[in-house]
Amino acid sequence: MKTKVTSIRPISQFRAPDLAEFASLRVEKYYRERVQDTWSGGHIMRGRQPGPDALQLCSNDYLALARHPRILRAMTESIQRDGNGLLMSGIFVHGACPHTDFEQRLAEFMQAEAGVLCQSGYSANTGLIQVIASEQTPVYADMMAHMSLWEGIRLAGAKPITVFHNEVEHLERQILRHGPGVVVVDSIYSTTGSIAPLSEIVELCEAQGCILVADESHSLGTHGPNGEGLVVELGLAERVHFRTASLAKAFAGRAGFVTCSRRFADYFKSESNPAIFSSTLLPHDIRGLDATLAVIRQEGWRRDRLRANAARLRRELDALGYNLNDSECQIVSLESGSEQNTIALRDALESRGIFGAIFCAPATPKSRSLMRFSVHAALSDDELERIVAACREIRDELDVASWPSTRRKLRGKAVTAGALHEGSALQHVAAA
Ligand SMILES: Cc1ncc(COP(=O)(O)O)c(C=O)c1O
Repeated sequence: MKTKVTSIRPISQFRAPDLAEFASLRVEKYYRERVQDTWSGGHIMRGRQPGPDALQLCSNDYLALARHPRILRAMTESIQRDGNGLLMSGIFVHGACPHTDFEQRLAEFMQAEAGVLCQSGYSANTGLIQVIASEQTPVYADMMAHMSLWEGIRLAGAKPITVFHNEVEHLERQILRHGPGVVVVDSIYSTTGSIAPLSEIVELCEAQGCILVADESHSLGTHGPNGEGLVVELGLAERVHFRTASLAKAFAGRAGFVTCSRRFADYFKSESNPAIFSSTLLPHDIRGLDATLAVIRQEGWRRDRLRANAARLRRELDALGYNLNDSECQIVSLESGSEQNTIALRDALESRGIFGAIFCAPATPKSRSLMRFSVHAALSDDELERIVAACREIRDELDVASWPSTRRKLRGKAVTAGALHEGSALQHVAAA
């Protein structure tokens, strides 16, 4: 039988159908309020194209593994050998196979009984909260907890209860008021690099009969003696009920993970929406992540270099007067405040070849947008000096002294939940 070949028209000739008013009004609002009124017709995320000598500080590949030969070899061999494997949901994966072998290896590395691989950190968080909370469950979420944790609360139909950022006393007051439930925190917060007081939170959860979920996306691979994460570094592996992680940060792949008990792993695979209704990882994802785990274990010098690079950048930017909001890790953010200030900061940095990641509403309150630098292990001393020199040069041009964050620093105030609440109607701030 002859197949009929339809000729392909140039894309410009196609026209999408008009949207009904309820949706088109939303689109119009975005173009009017965000693009036109706030960004003067441009887009806050879209500055200039990076040139060949650009310094990219927007990638979360903290250990600089994205082009590691051993990992790439494992992935290409798998593509050649396995193709794209069986395209199916995680619920169908069982028995001994590379997928389940790697789940167990990663769980053991993290000193956990078992674990479940997910398509992303986002689906790990949404799926987990969906299957542990219900309408009656209070879920206590740090106001800066990642958006995917908040989405999980929504999916579960549970009661979200906001907790001031890193304020254990506030968490305790909320638990005493609403009763035992689930506490969700990020070990390291993606926006400013602040670190959760995990030991105190564990104590409180145990005393109050709460379940604790810690998102280790920004600490897995980078923290712990061999990269096992902050929970292991603090000796809390058997006291935190669930750890979740995006494997798109230090693991430089595309996946997510949840640590749990063996019994729970099977329950999660059978009941969570992402495991049932969305296809799982491909064979080369698994082989690549498995090779990455070996590299993360063996190449401790990458963590040492990351720590040294991050400490130097923090020290020098702090000395220049920037308020780094108490970052103690590889996430170093310049909080420029208004989105107009952030666009000016972006342009000033990008014209000097420095490309960071912009965070603005809904990832931050509107008046607290920022430029995040993700430090990585491959940055050389000269490159670090280039970043510092650029930040030194632009201080006056951008009147950094007048930024609210700088004034806060001068007043000697660390970032507190109270400060985050000032003038912000936002319930939570969470970002990639
Ligand atoms: C703390 C945190 N959790 C979860 C995620 C989601 O991870 P993924 O990009 O793998 O969906 C991210 C990143 O976006 C994150 O920063």
